[in-house]
Amino acid sequence: SDVQLDVITIFPDYLAPLDLSLIGKARRDGLIDLRVHDLREFTHDRHRTVDDTPYGGGAGMVMKPQPWSEALDHIAVGAQSRPILIVPAPSGQRFDQATARELADAAHLVFACGRYEGIDERVYEYADRDYDVRILSLGDYVLNGGEVAVLAMVEAIARLIPGVIGNAESLVEESHEDGLLEYPVYTKPAQWQGLSVPEVLLSGDHGRIAAWRHQQRLERTADRRPDLLPAAAATQSAELEIRL
Ligand code: ADE
Repeated sequence: SDVQLDVITIFPDYLAPLDLSLIGKARRDGLIDLRVHDLREFTHDRHRTVDDTPYGGGAGMVMKPQPWSEALDHIAVGAQSRPILIVPAPSGQRFDQATARELADAAHLVFACGRYEGIDERVYEYADRDYDVRILSLGDYVLNGGEVAVLAMVEAIARLIPGVIGNAESLVEESHEDGLLEYPVYTKPAQWQGLSVPEVLLSGDHGRIAAWRHQQRLERTADRRPDLLPAAAATQSAELEIRL
C-alpha cells in the first residue's frame, strides 16, 4: 500500500472510527495501511503500568519512557524509510492545512498519543535516532489525550492522499487551501421556509457567479477570521503574478 500509518495509544478503541467512511474505504482499498498499537502491550509488569509520578513534584502523572521506547523500536525495525513521529500536544507547533499537505506526501507516519501530564521528555530524544519528531497542536485548547487529535489529523491528511477522495476537484475550492474561507452553498428548493437562494446563483451567468462567490469569501473571511486576510492577500497577489 502507498502510505503506512501507525498509532500508539493506551485506548485503541478510541481509533475505531478510522474503520468508517472515506478513511475506512481507503484502508480496504489498500491506499492506506493503518495499524493501531496498544502501548500496554509493551509493558512487562502485572498491572501493565504506563505512568508514574513526576520528578520534582506537581500534579498528575507522567508516561514512563520504557513502554514508549519498546513500542517505537517495534515500529521502526521494519520501517522502509525514516518515519515521521507525530506527537499531538497543546505545547506543539500549530497543525494546519499546510502541515496536512506536507504530511500527506510522507511514506510513513507514526502517531504517539500521550495521556496524563505528558510523556517523559527523554522519549523525544530517544526517538530522534529513528524518527523525524514533530510535536503538533490542533489549537489553543487542551484535550485529555492525543487520540481525538490523531482522529482529526489522520482525516485531514488522508483525504489529501491521491485516490482517497474520488472527486479531487472538491479539494481545490475549500476553506484554507488558498487562505480564504469557503463561499456559502445552497441546494433545492429555491424557496424554503420563506428564505430564498441568492438570485445570482439561478442566473446561469458563470462570470457573475464566480465574482459573487469570491466576494462572499472575502466578506466571510473579514467577518469570521480577519487574522487570515494578510496571508490570503499574499497568496492572491502571488497567483495574480503567475497569471500575468
Ligand atoms: N493533546 C491534548 N491537547 C491537544 C491539542 N490541543 N492539540 C493536539 N493534541 C492535544
